[in-house]
Amino acid sequence: MFDPTLSELFSRQETPFYYYDMDLLNRTLAAAKTAAAARGFHIHYALKANFNQRVLAAIHGAGFGADCVSGNEVKKAIEIGFDPAKVVFAGVGKSDKEISYALDRDIFAFNVESVQELSVIDGLAAAAGKTARVALRINPNVDAHTHQYITTGLDENKFGIPQWELGDAIETLRQCSHVELIGIHFHIGSQITDLNVFKSLCVKVNELNGWFDERGYRLQVLNVGGGLGVDYHHPDTNNIPDFDAYFGIFADFLERRAGQEVHFELGRALVSQCSSLISRVLYVKNGIKKNFLILDAGMTELMRPALYQAYHQIERADAGFAGTDVSELHYDVVGPICESTDCFGKEVLLPVSKRGDLIAIRTVGAYGEVMASRYNLRDEVRYVYSDALA
Ligand code: LLP
Repeated sequence: MFDPTLSELFSRQETPFYYYDMDLLNRTLAAAKTAAAARGFHIHYALKANFNQRVLAAIHGAGFGADCVSGNEVKKAIEIGFDPAKVVFAGVGKSDKEISYALDRDIFAFNVESVQELSVIDGLAAAAGKTARVALRINPNVDAHTHQYITTGLDENKFGIPQWELGDAIETLRQCSHVELIGIHFHIGSQITDLNVFKSLCVKVNELNGWFDERGYRLQVLNVGGGLGVDYHHPDTNNIPDFDAYFGIFADFLERRAGQEVHFELGRALVSQCSSLISRVLYVKNGIKKNFLILDAGMTELMRPALYQAYHQIERADAGFAGTDVSELHYDVVGPICESTDCFGKEVLLPVSKRGDLIAIRTVGAYGEVMASRYNLRDEVRYVYSDALA
């Protein structure tokens, strides 16, 4: 629940807007940095989770590298000041233009997702007179036990090179004169809350590390991707993920060769909890079967519930009634968009609400603002930073 002073400041803002708690963001980054540094691990922040200007500036300021999935993300990261030597570029469908741009900027590595892509990168690197550093993204067929739409490491997923094609990949690499293999890369899914999944990933990485070793490739980098989940149900009491437990698993279970580096690509865990979507109730419809709260925010501002049936805690964000005895009602909390999936939560228990009341949808810092759309020709999404709120 927000403190009353904040609610008072919210009440003066035009809604809807993403509220960024910069202090919480900085504390989260510090916690991740400390836990990673204690084990000598490298973090590349996955820009796809949130590329808001000041969020990126804070992450760059904390010293992280960048994980990009488009040429524009590579460009954005470099514009913000991320060192190209700490930028990795993944994606199943990198275009020639994007590859050439990244080559030109001498990024740290391409995470290569197919054998064909290796040859394409080799050709473009040769034409540019460069040598591309690559990590092979391998599909390890490890179940992430998360929502099927955000699972990426199973045989049925489009991502990465399947293990039975690794022989081909090595053959192709031998023919590539402008590609240098520096490592292997994995990313099995997102919002992973069962840490045992990462133990299974480590077992797979060890096996494949050994496979390359046997073939004379001493890999510099083991990149295990991102995926650490956050607590969508307790945004106040559990707002910084347990980075020590997470990195501890890799420290304990990865069998690193001497000098081998371990890299991560965290997105959600770093930015989710620092933001809430603040909205006003436009209309209340009390019906026989349902009570609806119709907000001025919709799936155009936050798509996750409509797309993945994702849970986000919904609460009143007005001053003055936290902890007081108020009568409550169950509401379906919906947006104004002309789609029945434009619903943030069903049967949400809230204090009896009226037009103009403020609602906060929590834990939206990752895959919130970045996935906004202009559907219905909506306004551009707005955002407000905690240290600029007046
Ligand atoms: N590395 C790669 C190669 C990825 O594909 C992703 C996320 C990450 C790193 C970062 O994963 P994270 O640490 O954030 O879990 N829109 C969905 C999530 C899609 C995740 C895509 N890949 C959602 O709203 O849940």
